[in-house]
Amino acid sequence: MKLGIIGCGKMGSALVKGAVREGSIKADSVNVFDVIDSASKRLADEIGAAIASSNDDLIDSSDAVLLCVKPQDTVKMLEGLSSPAQSKLFISIAAGLKLQDLEKSLGENARVIRVMPNTPALVGKGASAFSRGTGATDEDANFVMNLLGSVGQVLEVPEKQIDAITGLSGSGPAYIYTVIEALADGGVLVGLPKDKALLLAAQTVAGAAEMVMQTGDHPASLRDQVASPGGTTIAGLAALESGKLRATLIDAVKAATVRSEELGKS
Ligand SMILES: NC(=O)c1ccc[n+]([C@@H]2O[C@H](COP(=O)([O-])OP(=O)(O)OC[C@H]3O[C@@H](n4cnc5c(N)ncnc54)[C@H](O)[C@@H]3O)[C@@H](O)[C@H]2O)c1
Repeated sequence: MKLGIIGCGKMGSALVKGAVREGSIKADSVNVFDVIDSASKRLADEIGAAIASSNDDLIDSSDAVLLCVKPQDTVKMLEGLSSPAQSKLFISIAAGLKLQDLEKSLGENARVIRVMPNTPALVGKGASAFSRGTGATDEDANFVMNLLGSVGQVLEVPEKQIDAITGLSGSGPAYIYTVIEALADGGVLVGLPKDKALLLAAQTVAGAAEMVMQTGDHPASLRDQVASPGGTTIAGLAALESGKLRATLIDAVKAATVRSEELGKS
């Protein structure tokens, strides 16, 4: 399967680099194109892929096309294509852009899959979800499942859940980077060197996430196992409750979901 990447920015690069590294696609079957020449060149050089001369050229030489440009540019870009090939699979990662809008731009019966990935795909720890359009086949869904599955966890979901997934896992890495940075700052405040504090904070987040994934235990139960009566952890947890960490994270997911819905309407 020849895969074309339109838009070689952060997310397009993270997905394709991860998939090539994990072996789910071969670099010599990948074509890339970006309106910024240096962006196409950087990604092509990093993975050993070919550079197409235009979006039309890229689509001509691909079986599946991964659309990785900003939501506001995606429809404009699709409508500017000279021949949106009906026989190709189009996979869009644009936040907020609905299957119906993509199908309208590409023509009836277009094979379209809408994906919400996240950047940890770059290190094989992505969290992605996708929904298939009316023209997409089981084979198309399997291709996307394998592509995204090679760079992390992937779920097929009804499209009505995609905005919520955007607010949770699409934007979520940024929330967690903020948590890691803040934990490390706390470490510095109580006397640790910055580099050690950052390493311990990041590994603590990674380890706690792995505990949730591997044990299948509820996070509240895992938390209770760490917090002994009158101990250090419950003192820290009480401070988190006063600072409304949980309410703030819940609000963050809601705000990003609302923004994704707004982007879909504009
Ligand atoms: N960054 C994330 O964490 C994240 C997470 C989930 C989904 N997404 C989605 O991924 C998509 C890309 O986001 P990003 O953060 O990688 O953006 P980005 O700005 O890093 O990359 C977009 C790239 O598209 C290129 N581009 C713009 N118009 C083009 C055109 N007509 N033809 C070819 N290339 C064109 C730009 O030059 C740029 O290099 C967005 O639709 C976004 O909603 C991003």
